[in-house]
Amino acid sequence: MISSIELKKRYLSFFQKKGHKLIPSASLIPENDPTVLFTTAGMHPLIPYLLGEPHPLGKRLCSVQKCLRSDDIDEVGDSWHLSFWEMLGNWSFGDYFKEEAISMSFEFLTKELGIPVERFSVTCFAGDNDAPRDEETARIWAKLGVAKNRIHFLPKKDNWWGPAGQSGPCGPDTEMFYHAKDIQEKSTDEFLKLSSNGPFCEIWNDVLMQYDKTADGRYEELRQKNVDTGMGVERTVAVLSGADNVYECDTLAPILDKVISLSMKGTTRANRNARIITDHMRAAVMIMGDENGVVPSNIDQGYVVRRFIRRSIRHARLIGIKGKFCNEIAKIVIAVMGDQYPEIRKNSQRIFEELENEEEKFSLALENGTRHLERKLQLLEESHQKTLDAKSAFDLFQSFGFPIEITVEMCKEKGFSVDENGFNSLMKKHQDISRKGAEQKFKGGLADHSEETTKLHTATHLLNEALRQVVDPSIHQMGSNITKERLRFDFNYDKKLTDEQIKKIEDWVNNVIKEEADVSFEIMGIDDAKKIGAQGVFEARYEKMVKVYTISKGGRIYSREVCGGPHVKNTRELKSFKIQKQEAVAAGIRRIKAIVG
Ligand code: ALA
Repeated sequence: MISSIELKKRYLSFFQKKGHKLIPSASLIPENDPTVLFTTAGMHPLIPYLLGEPHPLGKRLCSVQKCLRSDDIDEVGDSWHLSFWEMLGNWSFGDYFKEEAISMSFEFLTKELGIPVERFSVTCFAGDNDAPRDEETARIWAKLGVAKNRIHFLPKKDNWWGPAGQSGPCGPDTEMFYHAKDIQEKSTDEFLKLSSNGPFCEIWNDVLMQYDKTADGRYEELRQKNVDTGMGVERTVAVLSGADNVYECDTLAPILDKVISLSMKGTTRANRNARIITDHMRAAVMIMGDENGVVPSNIDQGYVVRRFIRRSIRHARLIGIKGKFCNEIAKIVIAVMGDQYPEIRKNSQRIFEELENEEEKFSLALENGTRHLERKLQLLEESHQKTLDAKSAFDLFQSFGFPIEITVEMCKEKGFSVDENGFNSLMKKHQDISRKGAEQKFKGGLADHSEETTKLHTATHLLNEALRQVVDPSIHQMGSNITKERLRFDFNYDKKLTDEQIKKIEDWVNNVIKEEADVSFEIMGIDDAKKIGAQGVFEARYEKMVKVYTISKGGRIYSREVCGGPHVKNTRELKSFKIQKQEAVAAGIRRIKAIVG
């Protein structure tokens, strides 16, 4: 049986031999992209390059990326769906396209992993108004030896990938399915049946990315044709060992074993509750332990973590796990994942404390809330109603901390439905009250190369330098988030800035704007970048080449920073710069929000 580490090694070295440069996994919590809560695919941190920005390492990259999708939460517990997983990927930015991408996928699967071609099925895009039927891809597969009756054409809902947020790069894809046993499908309908949670499992997806979905829903041709691929590590390891579910992968099996050992006798490895706890606890630990980790809360990523933990607690009670158990499972997650992702070891204390806190808060509330809900359902029953109204679901959230999935699940078990749409609008209102940002989640983002965000990117570089010039030379960036409306910049400093300092910072930036300084970039070795004093986070990078943006005028350098871009050409485009707000984010970290124009 191949281990997940071995699979990753083989994949990355295969693609490195084919000219791809290795990039590290980005954080699970994306910087500078308010359109998504989490990194959902290896392509996500690469969006600017898929849209045409030059990448310092060239046109071919590969990586293993930690990913999280909370949309599939209802499917988790089945054979193949996970919330957190690792994705192997290789990319071409306007370099190779269909023929080479598919041939490389085929070579890796058959030669490197030794999968016989008879064990494949593949799918291709059937075509619609946005893009034509992908006969070419089908021809390539057939030429490589995949039987015609194992090449299926499917519509957009199955064979189209992206964009990752509301807008950005996307395109038709071709997906590779592996059959653990020798089963021959007779038709596309039969294939669909066998592949939806059945013996055929999708292990790899090659996206033939040639469109940019605009914010108003149009598909524009991209300047360059890209390839974006994603292979699920857990699925591939599981199927190669002959397993019919993902929990047999070495990064999940020990966690499931622990869950089972804590549960009542007779709990099997196929038990849905045990699988959900395994998945959710791993996801929660990876989010909290991330380099940009967050703690449970009622908003954004924090709310997703809270849902994972609380849902685990509920499912634990259903299989007889009593009292506190989260940390015992978290320890196994850290043991299994910590070599690959040392950040979770580093942050383990915080993880343990937060889990303990959540268990403390939610255990009693779960009991009381369950009784409350049961009484409610009884009343509904008596009045012959079958739907729990939105307000009751929201009360359960507010008074007992029940995430909606828990309420829905409990109702379903007793034959009731829930007005989920109504709940969602109440929830949105609730979140809007505490923060105006909810609607902004759907604007901007890495895919947004609009004038507004481009200007704010450049303003961020100037602010970063101004802080060092005016306040303290040891200040550096701790986080950045840009929407169309404003920039947000976190930095290491432990005091409130005085009005005078704020004014000086604004003046410094406005002066560079008035100077009409040029903004240009150069690609150089990381040592050279350090030598010329470029700002940037160097430790985590194992790239050899980086892109350095310089803001300068007549030989005077105002700012030098490692960055992917995009930026304006000249600072005059910014017009003016103003700080709107400063606040503390955590001990020793302050935040500034600012605007231009
Ligand atoms: N981005 C593609 C996916 O996630 C490869 O399937």
